[in-house]
Amino acid sequence: MCSKQKECTLKSENAVCVVTGGVGGLGRAICDYFLERKARVIVADRDAEALQNLPDSFCCEAVDVCDPVRVKAMVQKIVKEQGRIDILVNCAGTIVSAPFVNVFSPDQMMFPYERFRQEMAINLDSVFIVTAAVVEEMVRRRTPGCIINISSICAHGNAGQTSYAAAKAGVNAMTVTWAKELGRMGIRCNAVAPGFIGTPSTHAALQDAHLKHIVENTPLRRLGDAKEVAQAVYALVENDFCNGVILDVNGGLTL
Ligand SMILES: NC(=O)c1ccc[n+]([C@@H]2O[C@H](COP(=O)([O-])OP(=O)(O)OC[C@H]3O[C@@H](n4cnc5c(N)ncnc54)[C@H](O)[C@@H]3O)[C@@H](O)[C@H]2O)c1
Repeated sequence: MCSKQKECTLKSENAVCVVTGGVGGLGRAICDYFLERKARVIVADRDAEALQNLPDSFCCEAVDVCDPVRVKAMVQKIVKEQGRIDILVNCAGTIVSAPFVNVFSPDQMMFPYERFRQEMAINLDSVFIVTAAVVEEMVRRRTPGCIINISSICAHGNAGQTSYAAAKAGVNAMTVTWAKELGRMGIRCNAVAPGFIGTPSTHAALQDAHLKHIVENTPLRRLGDAKEVAQAVYALVENDFCNGVILDVNGGLTL
């Protein structure tokens, strides 16, 4: 399997790479970075309008990654058209912030359970759903592969982010579990855990004062750049002996 494994890395041109959430701030940077390195990039996102505005160099799939039936159909279609999937980047997600207890809202003081379930679905269940569909194809076809999950610094726990933190901690746990379970089949699984990256989603989720505080506590004294996350994803794909790594990309904020 090891000799074959090299075929799935970006060292070989035309690696088939699926990026979920690929039209978002980080996802697009990852797609661009892989395309520049001659991968065949399939952008899977629920934002059909944004997909239509992508350059023709990308293949596009409009899909809700929380829908197991549609995800499975999409994966089978990609394999039929491209021959295989070498790399999966699970990047679809939603950054959400709300306190567990809101004393200013006595009628709805606690974080609603329905909302917790929804946010777990997009940030955790989706990673399971897409990876299961892709790995099934890899195993059935006996092709090696590489899975990269986009986690977050919040996996360590973060005030005001109960569901998001829980989901990302779950993503880290699945990453290590799959690394242990799938390694013998030539499938590696790693994660990138970004800190605070200067994307529109970060600015929408956090107030400027909070971001200023974060920058002041980051040894590098700045937010990260989406391209720096893409570089980390690429590094994990390229290195054939990285497996089960959760790679922090946070400017040293956790030190
Ligand atoms: N931006 C940051 O600072 C940061 C930091 C840590 C982790 N992350 C993680 O990186 C990932 C991407 O974040 P981003 O900043 O690019 O966010 P973003 O909102 O810009 O992009 C998210 C993308 O996911 C897509 N998406 C959401 N739900 C979907 C669904 N059900 N089906 C298909 N597509 C769906 C959206 O359409 C969007 O294109 C997320 O998992 C996020 O948790 C981001």
